[in-house]
Amino acid sequence: MAEELNVPLNASREEKYLAVLPQVFALLEHEVDLVANMANIAAALKQAMGFFWVGFYRNIGGELVLGPFQGPVACTRIPFGKGVCGTSLEKKETLIVSDVDKFPGHIACSSLSKSEIVVPLIVGGKVVLILDVDSDKLNDFTVTDGHYLEKIIGLLAKHYKTKVAS
Ligand code: SME
Repeated sequence: MAEELNVPLNASREEKYLAVLPQVFALLEHEVDLVANMANIAAALKQAMGFFWVGFYRNIGGELVLGPFQGPVACTRIPFGKGVCGTSLEKKETLIVSDVDKFPGHIACSSLSKSEIVVPLIVGGKVVLILDVDSDKLNDFTVTDGHYLEKIIGLLAKHYKTKVAS
């Protein structure tokens, strides 16, 4: 596929998700490397949606460790149950935080971050990684973001499927 994304500039956020989703699918379809695929998802979401920070944390032994991301430098490790990301890991659910200053225990990697959405990828009942998206605007995320971001990170589930012997 072409290496440039084709996303309408003046479209609604939902229209942008609808435009970017098949392009992300095509980018990931034939690539078997998890890091490469996380990196391209972060870049595609940053470029297409214009988010302030987009990135992954991987569940390594019950602690979240920073993975590929786009945006300012970020905290490298987040304990289970801490911050928005660690809470998503604990609760195994998507969290939408409209004002990060009102979320108890929010971990501020950047003072410019105002609202946040965290989406876990659950495989075999276990959170294997989370996608974290930060906005520099208050109240910037809705269930629509959750819906499309869950679809996008669902494309990574293939990396965790047990290989069946042939
Ligand atoms: N705000 C997150 C920490 C990660 S950064 O936003 C990149 C949290 O509270 O878990």
